[in-house]
Amino acid sequence: MRIGVLTSGGDCPGLNAVIRSVVHRGVVDHGDEVIGFRDGWKGLLECDYRELDLDAVSGILARGGTILGSSRVQPAHLRDGVQRARQHLADLGLDAVIPIGGEGTLKAARMLSDAGLPIVGVPKTIDNDISATDVTFGFDTAVGVATEALDRLKTTAESHQRVLIVEVMGRHTGWIALHSGMAAGAHAIVVPERPFDVTELAELVGKRFAAGKRFAIVVVAEGAKPRPGTMEFDEGGKDVYGHERFAGVARQLAVELEQRLGKEARPVILGHVQRGGTPTAYDRVLATRFGWHAVEAVHDGAFGMMTTLRGTDITLVPLAEAVEHLKTVPPARYVEAECVL
Ligand code: F6P
Repeated sequence: MRIGVLTSGGDCPGLNAVIRSVVHRGVVDHGDEVIGFRDGWKGLLECDYRELDLDAVSGILARGGTILGSSRVQPAHLRDGVQRARQHLADLGLDAVIPIGGEGTLKAARMLSDAGLPIVGVPKTIDNDISATDVTFGFDTAVGVATEALDRLKTTAESHQRVLIVEVMGRHTGWIALHSGMAAGAHAIVVPERPFDVTELAELVGKRFAAGKRFAIVVVAEGAKPRPGTMEFDEGGKDVYGHERFAGVARQLAVELEQRLGKEARPVILGHVQRGGTPTAYDRVLATRFGWHAVEAVHDGAFGMMTTLRGTDITLVPLAEAVEHLKTVPPARYVEAECVL
């Protein structure tokens, strides 16, 4: 068979492990030919690709980013390009395309699949917010990076008796905030699923200082917002792809907390460092398993499906189900984290 693979949307540690796995399983075990489209859907629409043989994927398992490049594409642009994509698949003699991506990519994959293109999706996102899979690769790495940062920030916060408001990624969900906050023993965790009240937050941090503690660490997901009417807040806007461009919740919270507590408060924005660099062993294994199963799905003709982790097993779910809703942090998890916000 001839298989095309592409990586689309924000990058994520483990993408190269999937690409490598698709080539190993496809080329070595099945005698397939594999090509990689450059820069996501753009490569498919512009027929920009490279052959992927064993040499091409040698040494990439532990490498961050994606050797194929990635980009975002506007959904309308892709919709207009369905015919072109179909033609390119035919010209290249492709039997299937495996797009590796997050929410936006999987929605696009579903649209192309509904239009009759042979697609098997692979989910990725550091945010871990795709509901049809228990975990996405990249999440474990991002949590590790954020946890290490929080551990380091504790020592400087304590030296200066400061409140540090640490902003982690998570546009719609607070999985990275919750897990890194729990792992590092943060004093408050603020997630988008539960709008915060700055008065309650200030009280919580104030009590800590009153009890003789010399610093506080607040972890906040970038998409967190205050409860309406509790604080003046600039939410930011959207970019041309419809993605949030946040005005900076940590920065705004630091100003408020400093004023209310009379303690120095500093925002720390971890940003893209959470997405870069080498994947953890867990993410490499999950990504490799997803790649392996995606090739099997292609050989089984299971198009319109996505690989998924359920418990310890990799199975398939319809793409339609994968993009139905986001996986948010359930309230029970706040309780476990002793999150009072
Ligand atoms: O991959 C998802 C994500 O990490 C979000 O948490 C974040 O809002 C977004 O990517 C930012 O990506 P970019 O700056 O590449 O648009």
